Order: sequence, then structure tokens, then C-alpha cells
Amino acid sequence: MALKITRPQGTEDITPKNINKWYTVEEIARETAESFGFKEIRIPTFENTELFLRSVGETTDVVQKEMYTVKAKETEFTLRPEGTAGTIRAMLQNGMLNDALPQRAFYILSCFRHERPQAGRLREFHQFGLEMAGSKSPAADAEVISLAKNLLDRLGLKNIELNINSIGCPKCRCEYHKALRSYFSAREDELCDTCKTRLEKNPMRILDCKSPICSDIAKDAPVILDYLCDECKEHFEALKKYLKNLSIDFTVNPKIVRGLDYYTKTVFEFVTTDIGAQGTVCGGGRYDGLIEQLGGAATPALGFAMGIERILLTMESQGCEFMENRTCDIYIAPMDELASLKAMSLAQQLRADGYHAEYDVMDRGIKAQMKYANKIGAKFVLVLGENELESKAAKLKLMSTGEQFDVHLDERFLEEFQDLAVRYMFDDILSEFEEVVK
Ligand code: HAM
Repeated sequence: MALKITRPQGTEDITPKNINKWYTVEEIARETAESFGFKEIRIPTFENTELFLRSVGETTDVVQKEMYTVKAKETEFTLRPEGTAGTIRAMLQNGMLNDALPQRAFYILSCFRHERPQAGRLREFHQFGLEMAGSKSPAADAEVISLAKNLLDRLGLKNIELNINSIGCPKCRCEYHKALRSYFSAREDELCDTCKTRLEKNPMRILDCKSPICSDIAKDAPVILDYLCDECKEHFEALKKYLKNLSIDFTVNPKIVRGLDYYTKTVFEFVTTDIGAQGTVCGGGRYDGLIEQLGGAATPALGFAMGIERILLTMESQGCEFMENRTCDIYIAPMDELASLKAMSLAQQLRADGYHAEYDVMDRGIKAQMKYANKIGAKFVLVLGENELESKAAKLKLMSTGEQFDVHLDERFLEEFQDLAVRYMFDDILSEFEEVVK
């Protein structure tokens, strides 16, 4: 027997049974983003590798250790490890930054990072994220953070903490780098090989290293907040004032540096302790230098991304509600071939009217069909046999109560079904509505 092929490590299948959970997050995310003026952008799954070297940064873990780079006919591409670089590349390439600013775009996409898989950490994962380009005001930072908070609330999530920090601009970073170099040089021998090279090139990256020894050494390293220039300090103070004004609770955590090189000034993370070690459900910040670095005019920008798998894990662990998967409104059970023809045409009519209709495509007997209809949770069942076709009338069975209703199998059928559907299918919605009216 041939060996079964399984999915690659660190990937997941999203099966039809669970798709309702994804739809819940995606739909609420879309609605929330749109209510803040964001529109969806769709970008390629792979980009020229150079894009990520120039944005995410050559000394980051993502670029050094985690990229999926493929060579296809002499050209090298990389599967996107995140959505910001591609979105900004697309904004530039499509002239979006010459349009009214700020430009706002959101995305729902898969990302690829060759990390060690564990709960909440995958090699292919999905992000809902967004980018806003054109504003240098801290009001934009507050707006983007408030959107993320709004979405987490709308999803019903609790127990999620917002941590914010400022990692300054190239001006203040220069002094800070000096302080870091002098701190880490004292224990250079103990650093991992990657961090030894980071010491010269980009010492801030050591703060983000996942090796236990490096992260232990980093615990007492100088913090950037002590090195901010006046402009960055003012920006951070204004952000804090705006967040308070929006009643958004936050903690200033000077340890947050984020794992990507493009950030300047504000960085933030929403973190939960409910899903184990990988508790960062959302990360983002400002990146005022990136657009210029990618060949555009100097344009400040910022954004965030949420890991959809981590959001779902948190929602599941907190018992949040998901919208239901759509179930079958009517199952038509034909008893012979002639009845099958009628079943097909009735289903066609019902579907054109927006109903979820099914009929037998397995050549099953009536008993097995009823069992199937039960299993898929069909709300109504219509049995069609010789007698029904002859009399052009049949019984429609309401599965929840077993009640039977007479229906005609001619041009009256659709209207009769619509009446019954309104009366019996939306019971839950009707009773909820009656409650509200009371
Ligand atoms: P990031 O922090 O690298 O930022 O990723 C954002 C979120 O994606 C994380 O907070 C986490 O929820 C999720 N995530 C990251 N890696 C994995 C993984 N291996 N498995 C599962 N989930 C993961 C960015 O990607 C930036 N582009 C965010 C941003 C947008 N900054 C500004 N604009």
C-alpha cells in the first residue's frame, strides 16, 4: 500500500466543520476595519527576496533563519513572512501614495516562517493586518491601536493586555546602540553566534533573540526609553494621553522591541496569558522610514497584524461565541428516477431563491436518505415518490417537531415553502426579536 502523505510540519488544515470560526473572525475584522475607513488589499503570496531584506531587515531572525526562499527558473522569490512589506510595495507600485492621504489598507493573508512549531506557532499562519500611510501624528497611532482594541472587544475577547513602548528614531537610536554595544560587549563570549554578529551590525536585535542565554543576558540591558530624543518623547507622551482619552488601558513595557527592523517610535503588542507561551495575539507599530527605504518619498506610516490562529485559540479557551455554519434548509428525498428529476429542478428553484437545498446524489434508499438528512441537520425534508408526482402534492416534514405540511409541486411550491420557512426556520431569531420588543 502506498504511504499516506501528511501535511508538512507546522501547517494546519482548516476543515469545513471549523470554517465558521474563521468566518467569524474574518467578518468581524472586515467590518471593524471598514468602520475605520480601511479597504482591503490583496497582494502576492511571494515577492522578490530583496523586498524582505530591505524592510524586515537582514539581521532579524525572520530573514536570517525563517524565510522560505525558492528558486524558480533562475529567479529567486520568498514566500511572504508578513504582510507589511508587500502592502507598502503595492502602495508604491500602484501610486496609492499620490492619492488622498492617509492611505488605509487591510489584509487577511497567509504568512510563512520556518520556526520551531509549537502551540500558537506555525510555519504557515494567517494574519489580519492593516497599514496606514501618510500621518506622522500620534493621533494616528491611537487610531490604529484603538481599531485593534475595538476588534478584540467585538470578538468577545477578555484578559488581553496592551503593552506599548517607543523605540525612537534613527537619531536617538544612535546613542542607544552605543549603550547596548558597551553592555553586551562585556559578555560577548556568552552570546550565540548570530548575536555576536548582531553586536556590531544591529545590537537591538539581541534583545529579541530567542536563545535562552541571550535573552537572560538581555534582561538587564539598557532600555530605549531612557535614550529618546525630545520629538520621540513628545510623540510617546501624546499617544499615552490619547489612549487615556479613549479609555484604553495600557502598560508601558520598555522591553518591547519587536522582531522586525523597520519600526520607529511607537511599538505595541496585545498579549494574553490564556494560550501558553505564544501569547502575543497582535503586534504592530510605526515605521516612518520604510517607505523611503523602499524607494518612495519619505512618508510616515504604521500598522499592526494579528495572528488569526492565536486569536482563535484565545477565543476557544475563553468560550467566545462563533457564528454557526450554515445548515441545510431543505433536503429532498426522491424514491425513484423520475422523482430525482423533480428533486433536481425543485432544488434549482430553491437555491436561486437563496435557500440551501440538497437532494440525493448517492442512489440511497429512503431510510438511508432520512438518516443522512438528520445527520446534516436539514430543517425540512420533502419525500418525493410516484404518488406525489402524480398528485402534484407532497408532505413537507419539519424535522425539529415531526410536523407535516401539505405543499403543491407546481408553481405554488416556492411560495408555500417561503411561508413555512419564515414561520418555522427563523424561530430563534423571532423569539430573540420578541424578547427585545418586550
Ligand atoms: P509580527 O509580530 O511578526 O508582526 O506578527 C504579527 C502577529 O502574527 C503576531 O503577534 C502573532 O499573533 C502572529 N504570528 C507571528 N508569527 C507567527 C507564527 N509563527 N505562528 C502563528 N502566528 C504568528 C508583523 O508581522 C508585522 N508585519 C505587523 C505590522 C503591521 N507592523 C506594522 N504593520
